[in-house]
Amino acid sequence: MLIRDGAIHTVDSFAEDVRDGLGQSGQKTLPSKYLYDDIGSALFEAITRLPEYGLTRAEERILRRHSRDIAQFLTHGMVVELGSGSGRKTRQILESLAHHQSMTYCPIEISSAALVSCERELDDLAHISILGFEAEYLDGLSRAVARRRPGDAVTVLFLGSSIGNFDRAPAEDFLRGIRHTIEPGDTLLLGTDLEKPLAQLIPAYDDSLGVTEAFNRNLLARINRELGGDFDLSRFEHVALYNARERRIEMHLRSMEAQTVTIDETSFTFRRDETIWTESCHKYARYDPLEMALRTGFECVAQWVDVEWGFAENLFVAV
Ligand SMILES: C[S@@+](CC[C@H](N)C(=O)[O-])C[C@H]1O[C@@H](n2cnc3c(N)ncnc32)[C@H](O)[C@@H]1O
Repeated sequence: MLIRDGAIHTVDSFAEDVRDGLGQSGQKTLPSKYLYDDIGSALFEAITRLPEYGLTRAEERILRRHSRDIAQFLTHGMVVELGSGSGRKTRQILESLAHHQSMTYCPIEISSAALVSCERELDDLAHISILGFEAEYLDGLSRAVARRRPGDAVTVLFLGSSIGNFDRAPAEDFLRGIRHTIEPGDTLLLGTDLEKPLAQLIPAYDDSLGVTEAFNRNLLARINRELGGDFDLSRFEHVALYNARERRIEMHLRSMEAQTVTIDETSFTFRRDETIWTESCHKYARYDPLEMALRTGFECVAQWVDVEWGFAENLFVAV
């Protein structure tokens, strides 16, 4: 069963966030959530299949090998997935969970294209009702759990190391936000990409085919399409760098020359080599999630690690 509930209207907030991010006197920024329009979601799906981007395959391996073990820890009733993307990996978990009983699966997505493909991907699963929310993470989570039936427990999935898009302190605030929205005993399955050698890490965000570059530059194209911008894409290049102090990959778009860009009658000037910071992907030590859980109202009761790529799946229980 497919039910769509609500929609978000982001054009005004998109325009405001772009004005704020590009109008700053210091480092220009754009929020990474805007990378995911229809084209961005399709490009991200392509990234997950690139030879250099081992992260998705690593998580798929964990879920394929251990989904029965993982399912034993998870609570039954309702599964809410934050930023489901295409939902390809989720199939393993849902199949193990809904083996004997019916349940509701709620993908929460900012991207309507991702939500539609997720619903299509998982529509054939027996015993599963799908209720998708086109919403921001925590807003969607609270709207989903408002529909839990008496006695239903909630499992939250936050896969793909999407937690790494938050800076470390806001990531913990975000986990606290999840904790406040669910009940003691409910569970959270959290994917975290582990620290690894730069020779492995950098190509994952700067692949030889240029798909990640297209994913990043599409943000400028999106501003042109939706907000009337006049970015010349050929004058910005994709940069993926590792910030060792913060243990994160940063994606930027570097202005290749001094230039002025106009978006709906507002002008923004760029110095040569000035960058727009578009995304962060923080990396974790294996045991970081245990401490993150303790600080945010959870206990990390199990962890499965893919050593081939370096990825951990962490099972948190709300205390
Ligand atoms: C890094 S992708 C991960 C997708 C999938 N979970 C996976 O593991 O492959 C992040 C997903 O979250 C969605 N997303 C990003 N920011 C969001 C937000 N603030 N609220 C809801 N969804 C968001 C994007 O549209 C995208 O599909």
